[in-house]
Parts: sequence; C-alpha cells; structure tokens
Amino acid sequence: MSITLIKGGTVVSATGRVLADVLIDGETIVAVLDPESTLLGHDLASTADKVIDATGKYVIPGGIDAHTHMQLPFGGTFAADTFETGTRAAAWGGTTTIVDFAVQTAGGRIEDGLASWHEQAAGECAIDYGFHQIVGGVDADSLKALAKLPDEGVTSYKMFTAYPGVFMSGDGELLRAMQVAGENGLLTMMHAENGPAIDVIAEQLVAAGKTDPYYHGKARVWQMEEEATHRVIMLADVARAPLYVVHVSAKQAAAQIAAARDEGKNVFGETCPQYLYMSLEEHLGATSEEWGAFEGAKYVCSPPLRDSGERHQDHMWRSLRTNDLQMVSTDHCPFCQADQNELGRGDFRKIPNGMGTVEHRVNLMYQGVVTGEISLERWVELISTTPARMFGMYGKKGVIQPGADADVVVYDPNGHTSIGYDKTHHMNFDHSSWEGFEIDGHVDVVLSRGRVLIEDDEYHGEKGHGQFIKRGQSQYLI
Ligand code: URP
Ligand code: ZN
Ligand code: ZN
Repeated sequence: MSITLIKGGTVVSATGRVLADVLIDGETIVAVLDPESTLLGHDLASTADKVIDATGKYVIPGGIDAHTHMQLPFGGTFAADTFETGTRAAAWGGTTTIVDFAVQTAGGRIEDGLASWHEQAAGECAIDYGFHQIVGGVDADSLKALAKLPDEGVTSYKMFTAYPGVFMSGDGELLRAMQVAGENGLLTMMHAENGPAIDVIAEQLVAAGKTDPYYHGKARVWQMEEEATHRVIMLADVARAPLYVVHVSAKQAAAQIAAARDEGKNVFGETCPQYLYMSLEEHLGATSEEWGAFEGAKYVCSPPLRDSGERHQDHMWRSLRTNDLQMVSTDHCPFCQADQNELGRGDFRKIPNGMGTVEHRVNLMYQGVVTGEISLERWVELISTTPARMFGMYGKKGVIQPGADADVVVYDPNGHTSIGYDKTHHMNFDHSSWEGFEIDGHVDVVLSRGRVLIEDDEYHGEKGHGQFIKRGQSQYLI
C-alpha cells in the first residue's frame, strides 16, 4: 500500500479550518495531524511514498455532485456526456463522487432500469458513483420494486410533476409512491413544475410565432414552480414521506420549502449554479453571430433561468446562507448545440433540456466565497459534506477524517481559472455553458480513494477506477 502525505495545507471542513497534514494509507485517510506533531515518532515526509505540498492552499473533501444525468435519453436524443467523459470532466473540477439517475418509464420495470444504468456505468467511471432511481411509471410492480431499492444501495428516487407523456406522474401516483417511500426509508426527490399548464402556455407561444429559446423561459413561469412545489410538499406531508425538491429556481418555490421547514417538516431543497448566476434575458435571450437568437438554446433547462428583474438569484444565495436550501448540485445534462439542440430550431419545445456544469461546480461555488455570498466552511458543506449526509455516504465521503475514503482536493485560493471551451473544457459537448466565467481560485490536486487524478493541470486517472457506492439512509431523517 502506498503512503501519501498532504503537507502544510489548511484543512477546511463544514465546521472550521485548521493547519494540518493529512496522512493517507492506500485508499483511506488514516490521520489528520498537527504539522508540528512528533507523536508518530519520525519525519513522515521522509518515509511517505508521495508528498503533496499544500502550503498556502485549502485541503478539502472531494466534491459530491448529487444530481447528474450522464447519457440520459431525452427529447429524442441522449445527454452528450457518457459516464466515461462526464466523470473524467468532474475529476478535472474537483468532484470525486456523482450520484446519477437510473431511469424507469411507464410500462418498464424498475429492476431493468437500474440494471441498465449499472451496465452503462460499470468500468467506465473515473470517480465513484451512486444512483438515484427515476420512477416514471407507478403500478403494483414498480411500487414493490421501489420498496426494495434500499437493499440495492439506492435510497432515493425522483418523480416529476413536469414532462407530461415522458416522466410525469399524476398526484395519485405521486402519493402512492411517497407512501411506499416513507415506509421504507427512501428520500423522495421531486421535479416540481406544473407540466400540463406549462404545455398550454408553450403551445400558445408557438402558435403566436414565439419559437426562440427565450420563450422556453416565458412558458415556464415561476407560478408553475411555486404551485407544484406547494402541492408536492402537501402530498409528502399526507404520505408522511421526507421530500427533497430538486433544482429550485424560483424564490417563491424556495419560500414554500422554507415555510415547510419552519413548520418542522422533513423537506429539503437543492438549487444549481445556473440559478445562482444566470438569467432569462442574458442567457436564454442571448444572441450570437453564429447562432442568432438560437444562441439561447445553450441555456435551455427546466425549470428555466429566471427574469433578473424578479431577483431570484439573490434569494437563492440568501437561502443557501440561511439553510432554507441545503444543497447545490449541477443537474448536469448537456447537449451539443449542433445536431442536438438544433432539433428545436423553430420550436423551443423540441430543444432537449439541460446544461453542462459537472466540471465547474466546485469552482463556481468557490466564487461565492470570493464575492462574500457564503463562508469558506459553508462552501465545503455545500459542495461535499451535506451531499454526503443527505444521500447516505457520510463518513466515507464528505469529510477529511481517519477512516474516510481519501477523496481529497487541494484548492489554491491564489490561483485562477478562466472557464471557456478552448481553456478548461473536458466535457463532451460542443460549447461551454459557462464561457467567460472567471474564478479566483484553482483546483490543484485531486485524489480519489488515494489515487491522484489531477496534478499539475494533467489528468492521471483512468476509466474503471470509479466504484459503485451502496448508499445508506439520509442522515437528515429520523
Ligand atoms: O433541464 C433539465 N433539468 N434537464 C434534465 C432533466 C431534469 O429534469 O432534471
Ligand atoms: Zn428535473
Ligand atoms: Zn435533473
């Protein structure tokens, strides 16, 4: 077994920071030591197989992105990142674990969906991975299979009040699934937008000739998100099921979650970097020489980017500070502008939904530390510790302590990262969703279970290193 010593850095956790050395034996952290300590009786640096100098840098637990969609079938095509390309790009950006979504749709079996996602990911990933289960069809068999998912290490599942005819379930189906989930220790994740009502507005916009990507945002107004969020909170309350609302974009939806939490309900909320930084006008409404008004197709995701005049972004940052929202995941689901997004030229409804962020979440959230939106400790909590606790991985993941997997990032607060397609892009699509964003920090070294994946701006990982994580129950449930 090889011994690695990370020396001279500031170890940052969700609760504080301390100058300390981190000793790794093989795949596992075995000690976090005072740099002056002679307790172990000898100069560790002289006996370690590898010494990483972290002087002046932060040493943090590897990022955990709990919401990705590698190679997801959507809108007649597939998300462009495979498990191989997406997890490699994640590693470049300091993310050492993803939780992706296996898919079951109406008429299909949950067991088959999960097996298929296992097949797609096995031997392909550069970093460790887990699965949530998408439940798109509720019947007696799928409810039985849902109850057994925790035995497979899948302790959370996602349902939809949006995308009629694809993933959407009716209120009765949602309630039935939540009842089973509540009884079996599963966390219900919900895409909360009123899909049928959105489809009416979208149809009216297209009939009026309003077909550009910008109108994707105009169709999916915040009222649709607030209504669905309120509804699923009420359903979860009746079902006695814990609830996690994914990709919250509207301040009114965040307020619904906050109100439920204030009443003591087991309700949690996640937002995404795009809802912290991007807007309807600037991005969905963007134009370019190459694409004209279709430039905005690069930013089509659901829920949509919101009107900056409505001041959702400020509210999202504030909600993260106050813990009204607890999580930031990417909802990574990128599509190429050419050939894939182009399916929706002349009709925004046909643009496959999703953006690509898995490589940049750790950096984008660090910029929130630089601009004073969140503290350094809250950064670590958001990018690693809370996802580990929320999704049953804490102890192995999400923390630097003896016994934990040696998933470690050395982050340089004096470094710089210019995000752009020709600069930092390792994802498998033909543009950068974050072109031109500047970060006052840099991911220097990334280790996954003791193995160096990134060092000196070079990739040293390999597909197949990443292992499936059998997850336990969310730590936030009683
Ligand atoms: O636009 C999005 N969010 N695409 C991915 C699928 C989903 O709803 O999470
Ligand atoms: Zn969704
Ligand atoms: Zn998603």
